[in-house]
Parts: sequence; C-alpha cells; structure tokens
Amino acid sequence: MNSLKYIKKPVSVHLTEFNKVFRSAVKSNTALLDIIMQYILKSKGKQIRPIIVLYSAGLTGEINPSTYRAATLVELLHTATLVHDDVVDESYQRRGRFSINAIWRNKIAVLAGDFLLSRGMLLAVENGDHQMLEIVSRAVKEMSEGELLQIEKARKLDIDEAVYFDIIRRKTASLLASCFAVGAASTDSDDEVVTKMHKIGENLGMAFQIKDDLLDFGAGDNIGKPTGIDIKEKKMTLPLIYLINHSNKKEKREYINIVKNHSEDKQKVNWLVDRVKQSGGMEYTIKKMTEFEEEALALLNTFRKNESRTMLKEIIRFTIDRKK
Ligand code: IPE
Ligand code: IPE
Ligand code: MG
Ligand code: MG
Repeated sequence: MNSLKYIKKPVSVHLTEFNKVFRSAVKSNTALLDIIMQYILKSKGKQIRPIIVLYSAGLTGEINPSTYRAATLVELLHTATLVHDDVVDESYQRRGRFSINAIWRNKIAVLAGDFLLSRGMLLAVENGDHQMLEIVSRAVKEMSEGELLQIEKARKLDIDEAVYFDIIRRKTASLLASCFAVGAASTDSDDEVVTKMHKIGENLGMAFQIKDDLLDFGAGDNIGKPTGIDIKEKKMTLPLIYLINHSNKKEKREYINIVKNHSEDKQKVNWLVDRVKQSGGMEYTIKKMTEFEEEALALLNTFRKNESRTMLKEIIRFTIDRKK
C-alpha cells in the first residue's frame, strides 16, 4: 500500500509535466554531455523530491507552471550532488547502474555535475523564480559544507552524535527542507508558511538520511547502490556512534582501530557490524528516526486537511518504511 507507486498516483499527470520540463532542461548541444544526460534520464531514481514539491504546492495552494520549475530545480541539483558524491565517495553504482564516474571517470563526472547545477540555476533565473533560487542555493551551500565536514570527520574519526546530526542536517535535510519550501513558495505563500514547510522538510530529511544509514547496514532489499560502504569509507553513522558511546575504553580503541586501519577488511568490518547490531545501536537509531518523523507529522497537522496533506503524511511513512 505504502509504495512509491501509490504515492505517485494522485500527482501522476503533474509528474509527467515535471518530467518534460526536466528533460528539456538537461538538453545539450555538446555530444558527450548529451550522451551522459540521456544516460541520467534513463535511470530516474525515486523522484521523491519533485513529488514532495508537488504535494507541498497542493497543500498551500494550486500547482502551477512555477511548481514544475521548482520540482525540476531541486531534482537537477539533487542529481548534480549525487554525481559529485559518487566521485567523492569513489562509488561505482547508482540507481542500480554504473555511476557516471564509473563509466566516464572523475573529470567528466565533475563537469557533468556542474552542468546539471548550472542548468538548475539558469532555469530559475530565466523565469524570475528568485525566492525559489535563494531557498535552493542556500541548501546547496549547506550540502557542500555537510559533505566536507563528513570528510573531515572521516579523517579524524572524532565524530559524536551532535556532529553526526549536524552533518546529515546539512548534506541531506537541507535539500529536502527546500523541497517543502519551494513547493509552498511556488503558490505565493506567506513567509511564515514557507518557513514552517521548511521545518517539516528538515525533520523529514533527518529521518530520510538516518534511514539511508540504516539501509547501509543491510536493513533493506537490493537498494541499487552498494551497502556496507559507510564503514569502508570511514563514515561513522549513528548505529556505530551508539556502540562506541556504550563501550569501555579498550573496546572503543578496538572499534576505532578497525575503522581507521582495517576498513577494507571485510571480515573485521562484518564483525564490527555484528557488534553494532548486538549493542542495540539499530534500535536506538530507529528511535531517533521516529522522533524526527513525529516532529514532521506534528507540524504537518497544523495545516488544514486535504489530499496533499494526506499524501505528505504517506511520504513521511514511506521514508521510514522504505526498503531502498
Ligand atoms: C540519495 O537520495 C542520497 C541521499 C540523500 C541519501 P535518494 O535516495 O532520494 O536517491 P534517488 O534519487 O532515489 O536515487
Ligand atoms: C548522500 O550522501 C549524498 C548527499 C546528500 C550529497 P551519501 O554518500 O551518504 O549517500 P549515498 O549512499 O551515496 O546515496
Ligand atoms: Mg555516497
Ligand atoms: Mg557521500
């Protein structure tokens, strides 16, 4: 019931319209770029961000042409950051296919990501969507900071819970927050409403990344990208942070040593993953995720009931329950 298909159904006509705008936004006369863009168009992803933009507009007003541009803007920037993220993470699979860097190498992937980013910004500028551009640009800035903070912490391995939340707020929650905000902004909502929508999205975004980090521990189906790579990349996420916080000095040193010096050793990493699971780290992480979910739902409930509100609640549910 709570599938992506179910969530897409009420806005399917609008999603088709969004896909047209998206498709035309990534057209390029440069042959190589065009080939890469065709490849990207073939592997769509969940499109959860454009769906959120559509329902957010439906919650605060009527979906209109600027809503499609808002949806395109966030999906372009999301795609750009994924293309860059796979370079940063040296990850070779995305959406069940080879990543751009796996096929065309880093240089080209970086430039293709820049192209997507600039197409998004131009789309907004050319149509005078200044408020939307401002909201989303702020998120892009936050995302870069979040990814950099994550790299810094992967080097020093001195991450605690507060820093973890800070990283995911910036790298993931900021863009999901802007999806809610630009959806509302596309219907000329008051600043107050836009701000409240932003807050809902931020809470959803926190839950979204926590779920993503749980999936990396093998909690889902075939998720279309490698699992078990967070520790390999020395990314310490909440389940592992919990284990470390609930260990004595000697154990702590042992765990950190695996992340620091043996993160490529499958056997050692698997042992560490088992330790995380035995410690109750997964349950604790689910509890934290649920707190963000509840905050998002409570804020959403301050809006009057309509179909979009119901569907945004379904999206929150889906975020928590999804298997990929
Ligand atoms: C992946 O986002 C990056 C994260 C923020 C965890 P999605 O899971 O929404 O990726 P696609 O667009 O569906 O591939
Ligand atoms: C997600 O980060 C990418 C951004 C939010 C920019 P991750 O590196 O944790 O996500 P995946 O696992 O590659 O999708
Ligand atoms: Mg990654
Ligand atoms: Mg990353």
